[in-house]
Amino acid sequence: MPSLPIRLGVNVDHVATLRNARGGLLPDPVRAALLAIEAGADGITAHLREDRRHIRDSDMARLKREISKPLNFEMAVTDEMVGIALATKPHAVCLVPERRMELTTEGGLDVVGQQATLAPAIAKFNDAGIRASLFISPDPAQIEMAARLKAPVIEIHTGTWCDALAERSSRADAEWLRVVEGAKLAHSLGLEVHAGHGLDYATAETIAALPQIMELNIGHFLMGEALFVGLPQSIGTMRAAMARGRAKAGQA
Ligand code: PXP
Repeated sequence: MPSLPIRLGVNVDHVATLRNARGGLLPDPVRAALLAIEAGADGITAHLREDRRHIRDSDMARLKREISKPLNFEMAVTDEMVGIALATKPHAVCLVPERRMELTTEGGLDVVGQQATLAPAIAKFNDAGIRASLFISPDPAQIEMAARLKAPVIEIHTGTWCDALAERSSRADAEWLRVVEGAKLAHSLGLEVHAGHGLDYATAETIAALPQIMELNIGHFLMGEALFVGLPQSIGTMRAAMARGRAKAGQA
């Protein structure tokens, strides 16, 4: 398949983590979002958790008001969060697990087990014109159910693959194969495919070579690198890694 450009969504949660470690207002996640966009981010992702451990309601409202690129509102599927997201009207929502019972064994959302909760939420976002994405592990049963529930997008949870690589585990190749096959299956079912969690320069370059992947959402690594080189440089280096990976997509 011809490969389309790949987008970078920058997750600013951990700027808020640092702010909240002291209380007060600094560092400001909205300032980070504005700088990330200037440095080449295609969108901004933020997760309003039920416990508000990093992003606060006021951060999400300010992000929506102040950024010029799409806002991806990550959230658990609760009545409270669905209500806040519908009122905020972000470009997109990404539905993620926050409690153990909502998790599959690999750590993504258990779409099969949670279909009764997910179906009405997806329908509400579809009706409101807000693109809903399901954060799932690359498990064929979960991917098939995402398509059946009419989610337009899935985000493949790359954490298990990235952890296996970091630990130099013998599972790494098999985990990568699951990502590759999951992306192909999801694309064949008409789903738009994103990926995220635990990505760094090397893994982002590798996964950008999969032509089905349209967007990467990356936070922790970029913010950690930014401590040493600054956010514009960490984002610039990430964009370059993704571009190198994407250039290989046509060669596969
Ligand atoms: N995508 C989703 C759905 C997430 O919940 C997160 C944060 O855990 C990320 C991407 C970004 O992960 P990381 O901060 O490890 O880059």
